[in-house]
Amino acid sequence: MPRQILVTAALPYVNGHIHLGHLVEYIQADIWVRFQRMRGNHVAFICADDTHGTATMIRARQEGRSEQQIMAEMSEAHQQDFAEFGVQFSYYGSTDSASNKALVGEIWSALRAAKDAAGAAIVAERDVTQLYDPKAGSFLADRFVKGTCPKCKSPDQYGDSCDKCASTFSPTDLIDPVSTLSGAKPELRSAKHYFVRLEPFRAFLKEWTRSNGADGTATLQPEIANWLHGTFLSDELRDWDVSRPAPYFGFEIPDAPGNYFYVWVDAPVGYLASLTDACTAGKVAGTPRQWWPKTGDAGYADQAVEVHHFIGKDITYFHTLFWPAMLKAAGYKLPTQVHIHGFLTVDGEKMSKSKGTFIRARTYLDAALDPAYLRYYFASKLNSKVEDIDLNLTEFADKVNSDVVGKVVNLASRTAKFVPTLTTTYPEDGGLFATAAKESDAIAEAFASCDYNGALRRIMALADRANEFVEARAPWALKKDPAKAAELAATCTVSLNLFRQLCIYLAPVLPGLAQKAGELLNASCSSWNDAAKPVLGITLAPFQHLVARLDPVKVQAMVDASKVESPAPATPTPAAVVDDGAALSAEPLAGTIAFEDFAKVDLRVARIISAEEVPKAKKILKLTVTLGSDDRRTVFAGIKSAYGDPTKLVGRLIVIVANLAAKPMSFGTSEGMAIAAGPGGSEIFLLSPDSGAKPGQRIH
Ligand code: MSP
Ligand code: ZN
Repeated sequence: MPRQILVTAALPYVNGHIHLGHLVEYIQADIWVRFQRMRGNHVAFICADDTHGTATMIRARQEGRSEQQIMAEMSEAHQQDFAEFGVQFSYYGSTDSASNKALVGEIWSALRAAKDAAGAAIVAERDVTQLYDPKAGSFLADRFVKGTCPKCKSPDQYGDSCDKCASTFSPTDLIDPVSTLSGAKPELRSAKHYFVRLEPFRAFLKEWTRSNGADGTATLQPEIANWLHGTFLSDELRDWDVSRPAPYFGFEIPDAPGNYFYVWVDAPVGYLASLTDACTAGKVAGTPRQWWPKTGDAGYADQAVEVHHFIGKDITYFHTLFWPAMLKAAGYKLPTQVHIHGFLTVDGEKMSKSKGTFIRARTYLDAALDPAYLRYYFASKLNSKVEDIDLNLTEFADKVNSDVVGKVVNLASRTAKFVPTLTTTYPEDGGLFATAAKESDAIAEAFASCDYNGALRRIMALADRANEFVEARAPWALKKDPAKAAELAATCTVSLNLFRQLCIYLAPVLPGLAQKAGELLNASCSSWNDAAKPVLGITLAPFQHLVARLDPVKVQAMVDASKVESPAPATPTPAAVVDDGAALSAEPLAGTIAFEDFAKVDLRVARIISAEEVPKAKKILKLTVTLGSDDRRTVFAGIKSAYGDPTKLVGRLIVIVANLAAKPMSFGTSEGMAIAAGPGGSEIFLLSPDSGAKPGQRIH
């Protein structure tokens, strides 16, 4: 019996563009969905934009547009990004929908009616004193207040937590708070708020967070369950503030006009609402209640009807405490599993705008990098633990090129052109195909438990053996000897069948490659069981290009394009484009030197990190350059007549003579010489390396 699985990924905030950090999650979830479908299960894959809250309201005000305009524009951008990365949702909705309003109302009524064991109401009301920005006319969400951490005294911390000492607090605890909306000093104001009392749910949550599904799989990863028990569930749970006073962009609370549901109330309900809209639009077969049953519905106790959430670790308590409490109160089926992943770092560090490692999905695509590379790389890093994953930009290219291109695609590109048809019986292959077919369960098990790293390691081990086979048979040599035609056909039949098997196992990660393999071999590669049997006797379709090698230059271009402050490199217009030999005759060639003499000159790529004028020096600019890491030097360059706006130089790469003896000048010591061409005046042209070069590289 196929399972019926509803899968959600977190609803991205409408306010920002999708970046590579987000993609960890959406790619992770998409791989799981594609895998489950290949296994024959019915899957609905649901997402939506998370639209409500102060941030949207403020942005609309600042841009002089309606919230609706912002939502429409961002939703389209998000959906376009996801589609191009192969993340294929069944439906992509919005939390600002009629169905969400209705569902939030339904769940709110249930919470209003709910009583604890002692008969006291679950929803409480009381006044809250909050920071208010008198200039912006708005109460301030935690993220809109900055100040000094009350615990460790680090400056510039947000109102809810400190990223230095990790303590959490309320924005009123901040020392010297400032509104990030207007810069005004916030004042305290009091207003009525509604609270959901969570303490009555504690016993239930303690049990649910440690529960297992029908097949024994834990609902939560053990480290998450332990963390929840150690941090929250061992003590009385605090009440959850679920309302915000006007002005607020969101749903007004039906029985409390002038008050709005806090965005984190209607955001998870958005999963249900988007599912509802998906069914209405015919994008998901059946009714929402068949996918997400309530008590009394047929599917409620049916273990094969499952709800799976994929989220990042930062939003754990919303999904493992608040959300199950809401579902419980309203009688909805509880999530079968919450799959929680860690955060993306780039080259070992938090993504940074100034370093160019805060990379948008669109910037990646604009650099003409194949989305399949990122899917493969992320998959190779993901396991079932909540560990952060690192995108190492150098390893990225190496890994993709060596695995996908070198080990998998190579099997086809080295054999598909040698034979027109495959043999009609499967040739002797030393047990390779059978061994790989037997690995099917172990690979499937790894995908099912989100251990994609483990799945890919097994697949690549199979690929290694397939390549050893092809190397040993050397079809390119067999091709030259007509007497060896049969052996050539056998070799190619084996190689292409092993290639197809690998593509089927890789299909959840690289759907495009599996599709092309299917076209080449005229055989299905879309179901997991397709890997069990070889294809024989077929005529190959013309070989088409599968996946290109990843060009590291494009990776660098993407990083460069992501740098926020780096201005475009200065490109002075040459006075004359004509190459008339005048330059050469104006300055004849110098006498011949020995190679050893040239080798004494150590030319290096350097990045300009600051450029400024020097008081009283008419021709000189003072450049600070780096040869990478901590090597900083001052270089005085006589280029001011051609580079009038020194700020334009910041960020660009140049070439310097790095081992020239330091030269004391009246305004300071020059620790290197910038290399430039041209006679002088406005015609001075700094040399720069092609893109991809790194500071510190020697010029040979
Ligand atoms: N709107 C909320 C989710 C509401 S779900 C009912 C939200 N949005 S988000 O846009 O900030 O993040 C969407 C998802 O992307 C979250 O699961 C978040 O953890 C994940 N990631 C955002 N940045 C990330 C990284 N740098 N690395 C990995 N995942 C990241 O939270
Ligand atoms: Zn602190």
